[in-house]
Amino acid sequence: MYYTNNNLILDWYDTNKRNLPWRLTKDPYKIWLSEVMLQQTQVSTVIPYYKNWIRKFPTVHSVAKANIDEVLKMWEGLGYYKRCRNFHSAANIIVTEHNGILPNSYNILLGLPGIGNYMASAILSIAFNENLPALDTNLNRVISRILGIKKLTKWNKNRINKYATMLVRCQRPGDVNQALMDIGSQLCTAKKALCSSCPSQNYCKAFQSTDPLKFPQTLGKKPAPTTKYVAGYISLNKKIIINRRPNNGMLGGLWQLPTFEFKQSKNTADIECLFRKKVGKDINIEGKIGIVKHVYSHLKTEVALYLCSKKNKSIKLDNSKWIKINDVKQYTFSNVNHKLMQLMGDKKND
Ligand code: ADE
Repeated sequence: MYYTNNNLILDWYDTNKRNLPWRLTKDPYKIWLSEVMLQQTQVSTVIPYYKNWIRKFPTVHSVAKANIDEVLKMWEGLGYYKRCRNFHSAANIIVTEHNGILPNSYNILLGLPGIGNYMASAILSIAFNENLPALDTNLNRVISRILGIKKLTKWNKNRINKYATMLVRCQRPGDVNQALMDIGSQLCTAKKALCSSCPSQNYCKAFQSTDPLKFPQTLGKKPAPTTKYVAGYISLNKKIIINRRPNNGMLGGLWQLPTFEFKQSKNTADIECLFRKKVGKDINIEGKIGIVKHVYSHLKTEVALYLCSKKNKSIKLDNSKWIKINDVKQYTFSNVNHKLMQLMGDKKND
């Protein structure tokens, strides 16, 4: 038999909760948006994106009406662009099949692109007051510590789920979930345990142990492999070539300077040969501009930028076009591409 400590958790939340813009509303569309943006992204990064988005797209209808380019532009810099494309597709389904109203059924929500168990539970508990636990990494850690769980086995995950379900069995399930999220991000993080400020201290097995940080054990992550690319700043008469990445891969639907994986030597002649094969025979490399490194959650990339010239306007590359250098802002690029263009700008100003 577990003791319930949800009243203590809610009291703590009422005085210590973070003041976040999506906590000023119960609008299911806005709660859904916040949860999508918060997946894998820090609260402080999300806040300005959330506010700008709501200003531009205040309703599901306004997102559904917009085209994918407009929508991606509002997501530019937030990363994991699949989330944005899924959100746009789901908004269209909600408008065409659900009268523009976000469904309040777990199974229907799960059928929408980008909505999984966590997301459906978070939306239903926060916006519709359903007694569902929203078990993200923070909640799993906090409850593992309360229960003294070291290994996240299937059995133990089931115990965590039962405990969380018991905690949200009250009048304010969304607030219990969000309180646990705040406890997990402020007091009970992977690196620190500020037990003296925690409302669950008296219920917590980890607190009673010699080292609360040992709960739960974290598996050492394998170091991410590095993939190397070459990118071309290919110019002709104050215009450059950009191409659109396929929708179904990483950074899907975003624009980029023509970029190719490059495994072999860093010999300029080989790289020129690659650009000629992929983009056009009339390309020359003028020089190497520099390298941009970027770390994603699962891989590291290293992109070497080359300044190239081209003699005529024909392009072999799929989904590509010439744009005026000054029109770059009209397209959505990844952070890496922004860094590459910054590098190019710095070089020009040298
Ligand atoms: N992370 C995911 N959802 C959140 C929320 N509603 N509040 C704060 N952090 C979160």
